[in-house]
Amino acid sequence: MPDNKEFNSPASEITPQTLFNSRRQFMRLAAATAAVGVLPGMADAKALPKLHYTRNKSLSTSETKTTPYDVTHYTNFYEFDTSKFTPYAYASQLKTRPWTITIDGEVKKRKVVDIDRLIKLAPLEERIYRMRCVEGWAMVIPWLGYPLSKLLKQVQLTSRAKYVEFISLEDPLQMPNQQTDVLQWPYREGLRLDEAMNPLTLLTVGLYGERLPNQNGAPVRVVVPWKYGFKSPKSIVQIRLVEYPTTTSWMLASPTEYGFYANVNPLVDHPRWSQATEQRIGEHGRRDTLLFNGYGKYVEKLYIGMNLVDYF
Ligand code: MTE
Repeated sequence: MPDNKEFNSPASEITPQTLFNSRRQFMRLAAATAAVGVLPGMADAKALPKLHYTRNKSLSTSETKTTPYDVTHYTNFYEFDTSKFTPYAYASQLKTRPWTITIDGEVKKRKVVDIDRLIKLAPLEERIYRMRCVEGWAMVIPWLGYPLSKLLKQVQLTSRAKYVEFISLEDPLQMPNQQTDVLQWPYREGLRLDEAMNPLTLLTVGLYGERLPNQNGAPVRVVVPWKYGFKSPKSIVQIRLVEYPTTTSWMLASPTEYGFYANVNPLVDHPRWSQATEQRIGEHGRRDTLLFNGYGKYVEKLYIGMNLVDYF
């Protein structure tokens, strides 16, 4: 990921120690937020009712979860900053209500869904997923959401709908880094339709039992756990059904480094670093990277016959 000195440092330098530095400040913040029972960075969410959910055990890992502190303070949200340590503060005033998602493109009838109606759509599930960032760090996060397929099944697709494009909010007044050209805005991502319909692909509205903190993509984001983290777009306002794959924000920024598929794969190195190992935040030492981030049993059938080096 270009133009960011953190990205240019070897992945091994991204250690839990770097997170430790601002921990004392966080402890004070945590004491303040404990009183209202919310994760930091949820300005609009404080007044909203609690989310109800059940854990989906079969799709959850039992591995040790990354702490709420690390999940909410070490984030990538380029609309606010290219540093990982500041979005939790810069995003705190993002207005997340009212908020709608427009579903359009290759659909028989365009649909506009209000986020609070969306949350009532289906019982929410908690799913504890392994997440892997392309830069080499990894986390285990208890998300709240439901399969994106549930929403997509509510619209009638045309026969030309082969891919799904996700578009994040564009609002340079609220998202000051959109006044720079570090990426082409709005942030755009995409999946093949069968990837979007895979039961693992989660339309996500919460984490750790609460609504998504702004810096993690409030009020709604997509989570795709077998792909590198940049394929999990935050604060989305539009889902567009399309005939051809989207040229995503990261493909536009650096086409040789970031492909459309971006499946986690220890054998396909990033041009500037190896992907063979990863640093799980909160742990010492590195782990081996798992093909499809360990979700092969659910997704390998999507890629039969494809050369994953060419389709990186
Ligand atoms: N979505 C938007 N809109 N803007 C971003 O900068 N960063 C991506 C992804 N989604 C990003 C985004 C990247 S690079 C990663 S690794 C994940 O969000 C990080 O998610 P997290 O901060 O909740 O761990």
